[in-house]
Amino acid sequence: MRPFVFHNPTQLIFGKGKLSALSSEVAKYGQNVLLVYGGGSIKRSGLYDQVIALLQEANAVVTELSGVEPNPRLSTVHKGVELCRKHNIDLILAVGGGSVLDCSKAIAVGAKYDGDMWDFVERKAAPQGALPLGTVLTMAATGSEMNGGSVITNETTQEKMGWGSPHAYPAFSILDPVHTFSLPRDQTVYGVVDIMSHVLEHYFHQDTNTPVQDGFCETILRTMIETAPKLVEDLENYELRETTMYCGTMALNGMINMGMAGDWATHNIEHAVSAVYDIPHGGGLAILFPNWMKYNLSADPQRFKSLAVNVFGVDPTGKTDEEIGLEGIEALRSFWTSIGAPSTLGAYNIDDREIEAMADKAMRFGPFGNFRKLQREDVVEIYKMSL
Ligand code: NZQ
Ligand code: ZN
Repeated sequence: MRPFVFHNPTQLIFGKGKLSALSSEVAKYGQNVLLVYGGGSIKRSGLYDQVIALLQEANAVVTELSGVEPNPRLSTVHKGVELCRKHNIDLILAVGGGSVLDCSKAIAVGAKYDGDMWDFVERKAAPQGALPLGTVLTMAATGSEMNGGSVITNETTQEKMGWGSPHAYPAFSILDPVHTFSLPRDQTVYGVVDIMSHVLEHYFHQDTNTPVQDGFCETILRTMIETAPKLVEDLENYELRETTMYCGTMALNGMINMGMAGDWATHNIEHAVSAVYDIPHGGGLAILFPNWMKYNLSADPQRFKSLAVNVFGVDPTGKTDEEIGLEGIEALRSFWTSIGAPSTLGAYNIDDREIEAMADKAMRFGPFGNFRKLQREDVVEIYKMSL
């Protein structure tokens, strides 16, 4: 393990009926609330009406920002910052999936900064404060509900990049698995892929003496492999939604990866694809991750062997580590395909035309990846493998 400090300030409020805690939580922060949501799923599911009723109970004065896009855009962040200033907002309440939460985090830090919030994404400045943020999560995927990360798309420059700050953690997050019942099958699959990918990003590290952390990762992966095929056939099953939601939060709230630096190259490679083509993040990961794995198998075959044997139950008898590792990678690919995830960029009508441009975007901050450092030519090769 490498030395570490762990601090996660988000109050997690989890389980059936827990939305009722909203009024008392909101009342702690002041009257003026900016309610942020997406393209209308919360209106169709009835969650919007429930939230409004609870905000009224708290005597909140509500300003709304609706229409946050999947892959949230900088222009929407700017709109939110303006609303915060105009209405003297005390608390931002994000109700939706990772995109709504990420956009709200960007608004929260942008409202306390004189310049353009994009400076934080470009690492030209670091947030010095933020408005408090509360969230009601409707999709298990990103872990944004309990971390300080956010991913924003600058539609003018066609860049999609992550940023993070200790100031961006939600003050509280309410997670009722019932709120994810209405999530359609395809988005449910993207969520599962994203959750598993976060765990895989942690799992591919070069630190030593991490048996507990590796075991946490393997447990979450095995649990998702058991849960997801049942869930996609039974979308309103409480226990399956509950397990998935808990896995999603644990996968990226810092708890399972203390003392180790995960790889994170595949996320960077995927963000460059969705910057240009605006595809769902989980769909992009399903295509790219097994190819990143194949490309890097020789860097540390033992790690791939552990994944194959401990997670996918590959029989190692009489095989080299590389052969076992490769079987594990094929098993991951087949599993994702079996639940309906895409396996080639062609599934989104993406051909080789923008490969060079995407590689440039991925290389924005230089060579990357902690398990194995990738250079530009490596990134191009992984895109080619994924066509
Ligand atoms: O916009 P609405 O109408 O709400 O519909 C959304 C959207 O169309 C819909 N949806 C969400 N909950 C629903 C629902 N539909 C019916 N019922 C529900 N209960 O699902 C669609 C996708 O939502 P979105 O929020 O975009 O999905 P997700 O949670 O996967 O978030 C993706 C974004 O998060 C970033 C991704 O790059 C992407 O921009 N990430 C954020 C991370 C973080 N903050 O830590 C880490 C991740 O690796 C990821 O990069
Ligand atoms: Zn992700």
